Amino acid sequence: MTQYLRNAWYAVAYSDEVADRPLGRTMLGTELVIYRDSAGKAVILYDRCPHRFAPLSVGKVIGDVIQCPYHGLQFDATGRCTRNPHSKGGKPLQAARVAAFPVLERYGVICRATTRWRRSPHCPGSNSSSTPRDSGS
Ligand code: FES
Repeated sequence: MTQYLRNAWYAVAYSDEVADRPLGRTMLGTELVIYRDSAGKAVILYDRCPHRFAPLSVGKVIGDVIQCPYHGLQFDATGRCTRNPHSKGGKPLQAARVAAFPVLERYGVICRATTRWRRSPHCPGSNSSSTPRDSGS
């Protein structure tokens, strides 16, 4: 069993590795998908669709969301389902949710916090604890 610090940031990708296409990564035994939203902010989600467990990393990024390659559910940066193409009017599946991780992008590296705490761990070089969406600088 791997042991690691729980309340810490871990580098998952170089900034230039992540663009508008999903990137799959396994870190500390957890499969992740990383992509950038339309504003260029990095997003890190668990790499499994909650519907039939297809890897989101082989899906596609559409604006701010990632679309599952299997049945097309779409998820935003918080992991919330935003569209179900098979329902009337694309109404999202409320129960479908993907785990979303705090993201910090600094010095050309995208990091993920290994925490479920409300506040993300302190990042060296910043004056306060970072928010989960502190990405892009
Ligand atoms: S497996 Fe993702 S939408 Fe069905």
